[in-house]
Amino acid sequence: MNVSFYGHTRQYHGIKGEIDANISKVLESGQYVMGPMLKQFEAEFAAYTGKKHAIGVGNGTDAISLTIMALGLEPGDEIITHANTFFATAEAIWIAGCKAILVDCDADTRCIDPKKVAAAVTRRTKAVIPVHLYGQCAPMREIRGIADQHKLLVIEDNAQAIDARGDDFRIGELSDAVTTSFIIQKNLGTFGDGGAVYTDSDEVDARVRRLRNHGSSARDHHSFGFNSRLDDIHAGILSAKLKHIGEWSEKRRQWAARYDAGLKGIPFITLPHARSGYRHVYHLYEIETRDAADRNPLLAYLNGKGIDAKTHYSIPIHKQGGYPWGKDAEIRGSLANAEKNAASCISLPIYAELTAEEVDYVIEAVRSWKK
Ligand SMILES: Cc1ncc(COP(=O)(O)O)c(C=O)c1O
Repeated sequence: MNVSFYGHTRQYHGIKGEIDANISKVLESGQYVMGPMLKQFEAEFAAYTGKKHAIGVGNGTDAISLTIMALGLEPGDEIITHANTFFATAEAIWIAGCKAILVDCDADTRCIDPKKVAAAVTRRTKAVIPVHLYGQCAPMREIRGIADQHKLLVIEDNAQAIDARGDDFRIGELSDAVTTSFIIQKNLGTFGDGGAVYTDSDEVDARVRRLRNHGSSARDHHSFGFNSRLDDIHAGILSAKLKHIGEWSEKRRQWAARYDAGLKGIPFITLPHARSGYRHVYHLYEIETRDAADRNPLLAYLNGKGIDAKTHYSIPIHKQGGYPWGKDAEIRGSLANAEKNAASCISLPIYAELTAEEVDYVIEAVRSWKK
């Protein structure tokens, strides 16, 4: 049996009529950039997230960098994030001209460790970017507390956890702005690139709208900005998919529970740690080998059995070629947990359209591995 890592075409076939209808609507409208479908999706997404504003942008990286600029952060300002997120979180900080401060993650959840954030704050620190890694919220109450104490801005990088929530907080409730990515493989993904910023701030809304469109808010009038808009065809695809996100998250959670039950007790791996009371939406089902030396052999074994397991992310940001990539960056404190995560992580296939047979086949394959 082959088990692919993604279910994009299965998902498309499941709601083909709805997607095709929206694409056709856009094509027939004659308006493909900043048109009515983008406006419609922005209104739907704002309502879904419970925020006053949602702004569609070109991708999730721009969503972060434009938000940093819209919040008035300046070159040299320190922004704290963690070393085991996707590279783009730090990259966006550099694009905005700021300094990335990398701290460690929690040993269990692999989200940012608030204690490490608190220890890394200096008088130059202006913001923190927690990432809702793998589909589970970062501990926002603790991060909000640190931000209040030191007057820091908080930007949630929610590229991976649409439809997740914390125990007593929603995404967006405890921050200045939230960013997301709609790239193909995200829980809410289009057939290409896309992203969004959502916020209650009128100022951030107005600034991101200008920044994404050549610094323009009126025809022929420009200031500093970029070309980073969410195209209407993608907005139409996302509008169709948004209606299904709840049921797709439930399916992901169901497959994660099946993996949890089937993989329990295997001595050579640890399973994802879901925080009590949090709604984890399993963008990734990330296991770790207890011994880092087992990771590559186990991964190769699974691949050899037709299972497209991967790693997220096997090279932490501070070990990327050329770090700090000619840009301003600093490590504060030990990054031992992030390094252990990078050396031992394996992502098993997880998406709504998997079948029970496929999940069980993956479980059996992991169980059958011998050192
Ligand atoms: C945590 C995180 N941040 C930022 C991004 C960047 O998004 P994009 O690829 O749309 O630029 C991604 C995904 O790609 C991500 O996983």
